[in-house]
Amino acid sequence: MILVTGANGQLGQCFQKVAAQHPQIRFVFKSASELDITQLKSLKQTIAPLASGTEPLWVVNCAAYTAVDKAESEPANADKVNRLGVKKLAQICAQYQLPLIHFSTDYVYHSKNNLPFRETDPVHPKGVYARTKLAGERAALQYHPNLTMVIRTSWVYSEFGHNFVKTMLRLGAERPNLKVVVDQIGSPTYAPDLAQSVLQIYQQVVEGKVPQQSLAGIWHFANEGVASWYDLACAVFEYQKMSCKVVPISSSEYPTPAQRPPFSVLDKRKIKSVFGLHIPYWRESLKECLKEIGLTPKH
Ligand SMILES: NC(=O)c1ccc[n+]([C@@H]2O[C@H](COP(=O)([O-])OP(=O)(O)OC[C@H]3O[C@@H](n4cnc5c(N)ncnc54)[C@H](OP(=O)(O)O)[C@@H]3O)[C@@H](O)[C@H]2O)c1
Repeated sequence: MILVTGANGQLGQCFQKVAAQHPQIRFVFKSASELDITQLKSLKQTIAPLASGTEPLWVVNCAAYTAVDKAESEPANADKVNRLGVKKLAQICAQYQLPLIHFSTDYVYHSKNNLPFRETDPVHPKGVYARTKLAGERAALQYHPNLTMVIRTSWVYSEFGHNFVKTMLRLGAERPNLKVVVDQIGSPTYAPDLAQSVLQIYQQVVEGKVPQQSLAGIWHFANEGVASWYDLACAVFEYQKMSCKVVPISSSEYPTPAQRPPFSVLDKRKIKSVFGLHIPYWRESLKECLKEIGLTPKH
């Protein structure tokens, strides 16, 4: 059985979507209004009865404060969810010895490196969101070290929620041209690919193919390949045959309250080798997303 918190967010909705393809797995989805991860009592009330059953229970935490720029002006709110809430969740999971799958961000990295980051590389979070996400990872691993899997991911998009791809589709339909940053390099992640991979990991562990203890620690997941935001915008318009012209600009021409890393490509060798995952190339997943949005890719 899998309990998904933050179930109405982008990734949470992707878990709901892929759950339909796995009828053999039982899911319990809790939105922010149904389960606030900052409330210890509510966490206990929800988790205790589920944990007392005979089925193994995993907790997949999709709840987070994700407003990267807004976090700069409300650090306490970001900290409350991304660090304190995660700490409480980890404490409850430790009490019942439940695997906790938690998501973090490529924004914990910030260096002039141009080689994909390994999970062991030094972190340099810039900004409140990145710092609170790192603090949350650390809290989870401190309070529940043996069964917390922290998956750092990047540039998440899907047919659900707010994300860069949907913003491009909207603005691209309204404007003849669009300025997009070309000097931030990373890997887009189609959220349903991430959700599918977590379910594959769950099945492998539940079936005893991979020991549960292997989950512990930090992992990277993103789609294969590398892009700038400019490349991603160009691909969206190309596949949709939209005439909007993308104008490459530098980050200095598009100042934001929170700094983003100039390069945050994640090395995914660890998760691929331990769990034998096949991760799609980002362009293929982008086409899949556009198809799901209802605008069939032209090629
Ligand atoms: N989006 C990206 O580009 C990206 C990149 C790297 C990593 N990540 C990580 O991936 C994970 C999923 O992100 P996402 O894109 O799905 O974010 P999202 O769409 O913002 O979803 C987060 C969800 O958490 C809920 N939430 C907020 N505070 C909560 C609380 N106290 N208790 C329970 N739920 C709460 C939100 O509810 P409300 O909307 O009602 O507040 C929302 O439904 C996060 O950990 C994020 O840091 C995302």
